[in-house]
Amino acid sequence: MKTMKAVCIYGYGGPEVLVYEDAPRPHPDAGEVLVRIHAAAINPVDWKIREGHLKTMLHHTLPLVLGWDVSGVVESLGPGLTRLKVGDEVFSRPDIERDGAYAEFIVMKESDVALKPKSLDHIHAAALPLAGLTAWQTLFDAGALAAGQRVLIHAAAGGVGTLAVQLAKWKGAHVIATASAHNHDFLRKLGVDQVVDYDTERFETVVAPVDVILDPMGGETQDRSWQVLKPGGILISIASPPAAEAAAKHGVRQAFVFTQPNAAQLAEIAQLADAQKLKAIVQTVLPLSDATRGQELSQRGHTRGKIVLRVI
Ligand SMILES: NC(=O)c1ccc[n+]([C@@H]2O[C@H](COP(=O)([O-])OP(=O)(O)OC[C@H]3O[C@@H](n4cnc5c(N)ncnc54)[C@H](OP(=O)(O)O)[C@@H]3O)[C@@H](O)[C@H]2O)c1
Repeated sequence: MKTMKAVCIYGYGGPEVLVYEDAPRPHPDAGEVLVRIHAAAINPVDWKIREGHLKTMLHHTLPLVLGWDVSGVVESLGPGLTRLKVGDEVFSRPDIERDGAYAEFIVMKESDVALKPKSLDHIHAAALPLAGLTAWQTLFDAGALAAGQRVLIHAAAGGVGTLAVQLAKWKGAHVIATASAHNHDFLRKLGVDQVVDYDTERFETVVAPVDVILDPMGGETQDRSWQVLKPGGILISIASPPAAEAAAKHGVRQAFVFTQPNAAQLAEIAQLADAQKLKAIVQTVLPLSDATRGQELSQRGHTRGKIVLRVI
């Protein structure tokens, strides 16, 4: 049996349950590709799954390889595939209910995989799929954000936020962002029109009404966000489902988005990256064997852009 290096969990818990080990190398079935992974980004969902928070929602079998953001090269194809070929450089946010990308190889459905941006190396390409699809599906699919509208993006300096800011600017929206002071210049350079310091200002007192809010925080940030929306505006959370009653009370709409794989949207994201309209912000690069440290850093909640694991 061929093996590969991988970071797996055999049970739920703290960072200590992550095991860097030799695991069986997967094989592609019909409709699937085997990809040799060059880089895998870390997302908060990785450590939420590791801690068992999503075990009633997602159906995982253990041991499980974590990580659902990948850039690599097609190694082999299962039967019946015509779109991709061996040697293609690809990126993906694969099916989150299957083994992930903290590994040397991954099998993915061809339909979840797109050609990676040509102008980006694998480290930067791996930083785009999960957060990029999240920003796309919240702002454009759920929010129908249009040119000239105003959007409030919370946690704008994070993985989702940095891409949401750029996609909203590309769409022609006026972007307001919340972040701590050390990220304000960085966010202005990324295109943000108004930055609010969540440590010293109450955003609901300094932000004029907006059409769309992207809420990656939940809790008190979500509760205080209703009053910032224009009548008929929409609050979209990726942290916790907003209450329909609260939305009705404020005369606005609400949605919760759980990001789905989407190769067509990834192809659009790749095009924007190649046209230099979308930058992948990578704060930290670590070797695959340091996934534990990467998750500990992510879990502190103050990553600027992404933490990426280098596999090759
Ligand atoms: N539903 C879904 O499908 C989905 C998809 C992707 C992500 N998510 C969730 O969305 C959340 C964000 O994901 P992410 O990848 O962007 O996380 P991340 O990269 O870890 O976000 C870190 C950012 O959060 C900012 N932040 C921390 N506290 C804040 C506050 N009180 N107000 C405003 N900003 C604050 C930090 O900025 P400062 O350093 O300036 O504090 C930091 O830049 C996570 O909980 C993740 O699980 C859900």
